[in-house]
Amino acid sequence: MNDRRIDDLLDAMTLEEQVSLLSGASFWRTNAIERLAIPSIKVTDGPNGARGENFSGGITSAAFPAAISLAASWDVDMVRAVGMALAQEAKSKGAQVLLAPTVNMHRNVLNGRNFECFSEDPHLASEMAVAYINGVQSEGIAATVKHFIGNETEVERRTISSEINERTLREVYLPPFEAAVKRAGVWCVMTAYNYLNGVHCAENPWLLNSVLREEWGFDGVVMSDWTATHSTVEALVAGLDLEMPGPTVHRGAKLVEATRHGKVDPAAIRQAAGRVLRLIERTGCFETPQPAGERADNRPEHRALIRCAGAKGAVLLKNENILPLKPETLKRVAVIGPHAATPAMFGGGSARINAHYQVSPLEAMRAALGPDVVIEHALGCSVDRYYPLLTTSVAVDFFNGSTRQGAPILSKTTDTSEFRWFGPVEDGVDQNCFSARFSTTYVAQEAGIHGFGLMSAGTSRLYLDGELLLDAWSGWKRGESYFGHGSDEIHADVHLTKGQSYRLMIEYACGDGLTTTLKAVRFGIRAPSAAGSISEAVQLAAQSDAVILVVGLNEDWETEAEDRRGIELPGSQNALIEAVLKANPRAIVTLQSGSPLAMPWLERALAVLQLWYPGQECGNALADVLLGNSEPGGRLPITYPLSLGGLENVTKRHEKHGKVAYDEGLFIGYRHFDRHPNNVLFPFGHGLSYGNFEYRDLTIDQWHPDAGLSVFVTIANTGDKAGDEVIQLYVQPVGPAIDLPPKSLASFERQLLSPGEEKIISLTVDKSRFKNWSSEHNGFTHLTKTFDILVGRSAGDIRLARRLNID
Ligand code: BGC
Repeated sequence: MNDRRIDDLLDAMTLEEQVSLLSGASFWRTNAIERLAIPSIKVTDGPNGARGENFSGGITSAAFPAAISLAASWDVDMVRAVGMALAQEAKSKGAQVLLAPTVNMHRNVLNGRNFECFSEDPHLASEMAVAYINGVQSEGIAATVKHFIGNETEVERRTISSEINERTLREVYLPPFEAAVKRAGVWCVMTAYNYLNGVHCAENPWLLNSVLREEWGFDGVVMSDWTATHSTVEALVAGLDLEMPGPTVHRGAKLVEATRHGKVDPAAIRQAAGRVLRLIERTGCFETPQPAGERADNRPEHRALIRCAGAKGAVLLKNENILPLKPETLKRVAVIGPHAATPAMFGGGSARINAHYQVSPLEAMRAALGPDVVIEHALGCSVDRYYPLLTTSVAVDFFNGSTRQGAPILSKTTDTSEFRWFGPVEDGVDQNCFSARFSTTYVAQEAGIHGFGLMSAGTSRLYLDGELLLDAWSGWKRGESYFGHGSDEIHADVHLTKGQSYRLMIEYACGDGLTTTLKAVRFGIRAPSAAGSISEAVQLAAQSDAVILVVGLNEDWETEAEDRRGIELPGSQNALIEAVLKANPRAIVTLQSGSPLAMPWLERALAVLQLWYPGQECGNALADVLLGNSEPGGRLPITYPLSLGGLENVTKRHEKHGKVAYDEGLFIGYRHFDRHPNNVLFPFGHGLSYGNFEYRDLTIDQWHPDAGLSVFVTIANTGDKAGDEVIQLYVQPVGPAIDLPPKSLASFERQLLSPGEEKIISLTVDKSRFKNWSSEHNGFTHLTKTFDILVGRSAGDIRLARRLNID
């Protein structure tokens, strides 16, 4: 297929047929045109796995590290390999398009989706995006760079307007998208939910036509985020090719009519349809038109890659002669904390997948240290935002309509008590109007007060032994759960007797116009022991040779459509850490989160490791690092603040239709903290190694106006262990101009050095890094000709500097 063939197909199509290509047929598929053998294509989320069609509980997939963890590796080759593996996963789900990567910036420390975005720095985010997309597309699967643009907060994401001036857009927020288009040749772009400077991103002609297409030469498909197309004419004219999901709301007959009435140029329809055909062609769909069914493809090479990637992303924040552990000295090891036996694999929302399996830190330490070492566990405290799910089997009956009358349409059993449907429900079940009944028996394992919890997107009520206990039906109220479509969890306490069986029945109806696209229900029971016991953890810590504490956030705390409320660890986790450190000062604190956390206990901890959300091999990646089988290879792709003081403007929660003023301009992340160094807990780029590095002999090899700059620096590993070093180069413009930008990362290189080894590292800086956006010139220009070239271990640890004049 070539452009000529695409033209021939377009010639053969009626206007209706061309228009039919411009909206989804269903949640995850585009329309096919059988008459012309034009197949449908299937898309799937998302950044850390290929989920497939079912929003929860579907066919299992490989869970890869979240984007923040990938970016923390600063390893473009590895990220490319992850991209390839993700494409193979997409194929196992019969999909041709992966809805990833997410390249929005970490502007807001509290943004609920930070975990699925790479960095606060445009250069690092761009390098990661290019590597990821190259990997995905090398397998013939389309990547979708998202969300274009200004989606840096989740609260009211559908109504807010990101107010960003052009210079800030050009220098901070657009670069990862620009790199995705110009350097990686990305095939799809997804627009953001929000407005940009008052115009909705899905119908913003400046963004889609002028910048993306005309300036950058993008020739792929622009699709809306889910249910974020808001008009028939404006969106199409502005350059939005594909309304997702389907069936259409704004296109189809409405767009045909608008075109017939001259409101839309038929040539614009033809062009958009041509771009969808090009996507079908690029993904090889014309040759293999029938998407294969979904299957679980649990490959050993993916497992190995995930394990290695998890370790490469792990950032050793502090280490005072504690790590790596020496296995030969260990007799009793305690693995303590809410994530010790239940790892956090990923964040929530559309990034969540049904993983093939999960390896917990507890299991991994047992496997790594073998039967001669006693490994014990204490929960310590809970990280649960909601009451724990049931693990017994649950019988589900589905009914069409909202009254659950007559025989069910379908009955099945599941092993979870949470159900989410984003689009398709089950065969034969009407996704727009259905109800369900869930039944299970709970055998109390303990005596005492048990908490029952229920929440739903849609209405629900829970009966215990035939008595109504919880009612989220008559008084249903929209809360924060389920992307803002669900209620808050409601609770009731009941005293249960150990060994006794209790019947639970939950009724659910999706309809009543209360929810939009997402339907969900969740019920859980919190047994008395689920709260954990700090004193039990303390006792265990005191009698162990090594203590591994695993604490943090999880997919309920960091998720889509909401932002965090603060940077503190939730629940009693800080108290647990303090108490354990007191009992055993050598305890190692491992953090799981996708964004910064406050560490009031930091001075008392000797070793702190940030593990992020590393996917299904979580425990193994951690054990590899703790035991020195892998380097803690990560460096922070974000700054850790001491407090939220001074960050009020970026962390503000906006009202419906609020304006999000990006008043700080270029000064996000370390550019802000360079002006407020007292509020830095750990700087951007920070991360320790098991090696020890010295930097010397920074030489500027040459400046070439076309090629840019090439620089050499000598690095020596003076430690007694091998180590990976990430050498970072920052450019700092110097001069009298008042609008000179702050320093920015311009190049980096990851290198493995054996003990005693010395290497000369070459770094190149693209010529564009010496220019800045000028509104006056409507383009990039030199604001100064003098720059300081800074090389170091982090934005806060510059080891060498040279001044450069490019005159
Ligand atoms: C998210 C997108 C995602 C889409 C489909 C939206 O809510 O913002 O990132 O790809 O849903 O699940």
